[in-house]
Amino acid sequence: MSDLNKFKRYTVTSALPYANGPLHIGHLAGAYIPADIFVRHLRLRKKDVVWVCGSDEHGAAITIKAKKEGITPQQIIDKYHQQIKESFEQFGIAFDIYHRTSSPVHHDLSQEFFLNLYEKGEFIERESEQYYDAEFDQFLADRYITGTCPNCGNEGAYGDQCEKCGTSLSPTDLINPKSTLSGKAPVLRLTKHWYLPLDKYQPWLEEWLLEGKKNKWKTNVYGQCSSWLKAGLQPRSMTRDLDWGIDVPLEEAKGKKLYVWLDAPIGYISATKQWAADNNKDWQKYWKRQANEEDNSCLIHFIGKDNIVFHCITFPSILHAHGEYILPENVPANEFLNLEGDKLSTSRNHAVWLHEYLEEFPGKQDELRYVLTSILPETSDSEFTWRDYQARVNNELVAILGNFVNRVMILMHKYYEGKVEGLADLKDEVLYGQIGKAYDSIQESIENYKFRQALSDLMDVARLGNKYLTDKEPWKTFKTDPAATREVLQNCLHIIANLGVLAQPFLPAASKKIFSMLNLTGDAFSYDEKISFEDGHQLNTPELLFEKVEDAVIEKQLEKLLNKAQEVAEAVEVSPAKENVNYDQFSAMDIRVGTILAAEKVAKTKKLLKLTIDTGLDTRTVVSGIAEYFEPEAIVGRQVSILVNLEPREIKGIVSKGMILMSENPDGKLIFVTPGEGAVNGRVIR
Ligand code: 2FM
Ligand code: ZN
Repeated sequence: MSDLNKFKRYTVTSALPYANGPLHIGHLAGAYIPADIFVRHLRLRKKDVVWVCGSDEHGAAITIKAKKEGITPQQIIDKYHQQIKESFEQFGIAFDIYHRTSSPVHHDLSQEFFLNLYEKGEFIERESEQYYDAEFDQFLADRYITGTCPNCGNEGAYGDQCEKCGTSLSPTDLINPKSTLSGKAPVLRLTKHWYLPLDKYQPWLEEWLLEGKKNKWKTNVYGQCSSWLKAGLQPRSMTRDLDWGIDVPLEEAKGKKLYVWLDAPIGYISATKQWAADNNKDWQKYWKRQANEEDNSCLIHFIGKDNIVFHCITFPSILHAHGEYILPENVPANEFLNLEGDKLSTSRNHAVWLHEYLEEFPGKQDELRYVLTSILPETSDSEFTWRDYQARVNNELVAILGNFVNRVMILMHKYYEGKVEGLADLKDEVLYGQIGKAYDSIQESIENYKFRQALSDLMDVARLGNKYLTDKEPWKTFKTDPAATREVLQNCLHIIANLGVLAQPFLPAASKKIFSMLNLTGDAFSYDEKISFEDGHQLNTPELLFEKVEDAVIEKQLEKLLNKAQEVAEAVEVSPAKENVNYDQFSAMDIRVGTILAAEKVAKTKKLLKLTIDTGLDTRTVVSGIAEYFEPEAIVGRQVSILVNLEPREIKGIVSKGMILMSENPDGKLIFVTPGEGAVNGRVIR
């Protein structure tokens, strides 16, 4: 077993989804199907493995959704945690535990982590000014301050936004601000936050990651990490003045919460703790460094690409600073999955939702697993289309795998009433050799996170079976050479049994059906369990493994997507058109393609990011009001449209040269106006 072989124990994690909406196929293709295949494979190898996941229930993702639905954050997480958990279960994603970050175990452990680092003096403490309610003795999150909107005069504007005119605001922009707690005017007070000194860990990260993981991690992951390290890491605040989250466990931090990206990955550990408590295991074996390094567990994080920085830089830094924990061996992040030529989007409802699929395609879990595994965005973004779904199910699952199994089973019943006689083992050396190779290559691919390749090798075994059957034509020899006919068909039974074993990580339900048709019992057949048929073994009645997907089914799904897009488009309010400009006015604007080289928060502000942009003309600084919507680390490397001849302006002491073009999604979240594929820095946008 590749590099992974040296470990005795495996700790596998899948990104904790925010409990703020249902799961869609993009989630499945990013962090869940690959991990499910990987873990099922480890279990077939009889490895000691724990696979944990759970709901991420803190952070702005939750409070924003609560605001939108007009219910409390607690109601939001209770609703979506339940829905997500059920969808995973019904889809057959086999976590050992699906936990939640609102649990007391998790709150305690997160606070323990914070205190551990605090007591070691790891954090840098920094102060900035923020509104404070003296009567209630607490700092005020944006939503707890109302006042008059400087833009439209609305007296009920919030500290982050005026809902009447839509302007995005800072609490200090409001005229006559009031605390919603006491109704009194808040005062500006210095507020302290605790920063993780990522810059201090930079040399260590360069050694552990840049040197240690070179040629070991996927190039998309390694590449992203090395560009952040090249840009230079900045201290990152681990606390927030918020009213939803885990309390910062310090007397002087009353009312403050832990940053969600501090607590979320600790959720992997708290989930393991809970699982261990429920199953009489020792969680520390799976997470802590053991006295003898060889006893350490192998930690693997399955995530989507937007989570790379947090799993490769921030969390390892926290684990390293703590000192008692193991570090990730690998972080096989996937790129994004698109849908029908467009990005998957929750806000535009452009998605295939898992709970809807489960309802509309009952018993078709393996079909979706198969299609998604075939197109996993392992090295670059990939695309799901319903026509491709239909083609893959009909031309591959039905025509190749299903057809082979079915032909053999039917003939076995027709000729021998399903009874196996003699020939307990596979009696064809060529076949034997080819199947043996497939065992090796499939396992090798899985262990190198090449799930698409592994699946394709599995289908080659079914192709091999079809070819063997077609070449041997047992239906022609049945009368003339009964012994040869029996041998061919029973060799085919062996191929089917091996297909059943090899398909377990990919198509668990189909595997079960195969074993049941073959009348072989056992929950899971490990790779090295020898399958042989006793003389007189009775096969069960054949049933179809897969059914063809009809055109009408696909058309219905396509229509559904169109209708959703239409509904969203109709619901979006569009602001009135502006006055005409002449051509000269338009062409006076010099808009170019650029790339973000570095991004960091502007100190003492909430909304501003300082961006370093390669404009093709030069490298320059632009201050942009997008900090509430983007983590600085997550936008490095993004191509943007930039107005380069806007007069320079000084903002918070930084000279900003230019403006990044942004738009809004239906939720009002800012989004980049991205140049198309193949765009080159410096080229004019006109
Ligand atoms: O991006 C997300 O959906 C996050 N909720 C992932 C968290 S992963 C882990 F760190 F918990
Ligand atoms: Zn307003």
